[in-house]
Amino acid sequence: MFTKKTIRDVDLQDKRVLMRADYNVPLDDQGAITADYRITQSVPTIKALLEKNVRLVICSHLGRPDGTPTPKYSLRPIAVRLSELLGRDVQFVDDCIGPNVEKAVHDLQGGQILLLENLRFHPEEEQNDDGFASQLAQWGDIFVQDGFGVVHRAHASTDAITHHLPSVAGYLLEKEVDTITNVMDNPQRPLAAIVGGAKISDKIDILNKLIGIADFVAVGGAMANTFLVAKGHKVGKSKYEESDLGMARDILARAEEKSKHSRFVFYLPQDGVVATSLDKTASTRLVDWDADLISEVQSYPKAPDPTTQQVADNEMILDIGPFSAAFMAGGVQLASTVIWNGTMGVTETPAVHGPVGPFAHATEVLIEALTGEFGVRPFSLVGGGDTVGYIEQRKLTGAFNHVSTGGGASLELMAGRRLPGVDALQDN
Ligand code: 3PG
Repeated sequence: MFTKKTIRDVDLQDKRVLMRADYNVPLDDQGAITADYRITQSVPTIKALLEKNVRLVICSHLGRPDGTPTPKYSLRPIAVRLSELLGRDVQFVDDCIGPNVEKAVHDLQGGQILLLENLRFHPEEEQNDDGFASQLAQWGDIFVQDGFGVVHRAHASTDAITHHLPSVAGYLLEKEVDTITNVMDNPQRPLAAIVGGAKISDKIDILNKLIGIADFVAVGGAMANTFLVAKGHKVGKSKYEESDLGMARDILARAEEKSKHSRFVFYLPQDGVVATSLDKTASTRLVDWDADLISEVQSYPKAPDPTTQQVADNEMILDIGPFSAAFMAGGVQLASTVIWNGTMGVTETPAVHGPVGPFAHATEVLIEALTGEFGVRPFSLVGGGDTVGYIEQRKLTGAFNHVSTGGGASLELMAGRRLPGVDALQDN
């Protein structure tokens, strides 16, 4: 349950509102927004505020400009996109403090919106500087935190600001915290978790937590390679983290221990799609290092060629194989709740034929299982930058129950950590 005050609990009529959003969205080399999910998800709070005729000042960060104004990290393109989404003008000012902002805020009328320039153009933002926060606080009578993606940071616009203004949550923050907390504390069982991504060390807390609470945990993506190396498999040139091998062994031991005493499955891929480069035209083949099924069948009546069961020195595992994808889809079908964070392969490589890239097939199978293509549809909680980026690109965000706008914030919340930007808000 969400225990903080929200915009429902305070009188906002005709007030000046300073809202923190997380508009840290991906931009291409030309500065065009390539995925706008974080922007679209802020719209319900903005609309609710405008219904109260507030003068709305929105602030956010974008990227990591390290305290220096950097044109490629300007929020100007966000103002344009937000204005398209809302169907009304969104003004923009080229700083977040100082005389230009003062004038723009002063001129703002009820029902108008002003977006400030990137907070991280000032080093004081990340330093959680109280003086900087008090300058920001001049722009509102009340502070609304709706930037779920950034509440795991104690920065001036997430923490210090709350010492200067009455501070409440927006609808996105409330929905994210409520949904994620409910799934972690009180899931409908069986609970399955599918985890991918690059490094075990980035997700160690959540992996440990999931082994504690879930009934089925499956690992894919590059982090699976580290587990495979820890188990003694050859992975060729595949990306894996030498420094995470100890962690991988500890996790494997914990998982094995749990499966001895309870109905619990920890699943690592048994086959994979390999290629010698990430290029979209690279030839691919399947390697069947553990299942030994595809290789056995394809070579029969001869014994399988050993190369079909081993990744060569010049090859990389770029997706999990069809056997592993089917196994994971089966786990998903048996579950009532599924947490999915991290794609199974390199989904960024575009396709030569059709819409699905050469290393995205397993991720697609998983999406089908999660969205009910095989019959049952579990409750799905999806997170992680690459994962959300992929399903956005496939225009499938609406096919899941909850797609989180948070990267680090959702992982920390799932792992049971406190979020400073939530703690700082007024209790209800
Ligand atoms: C994110 O994308 O996870 C948030 O916007 C936070 O960004 P940060 O990791 O640069 O603080």
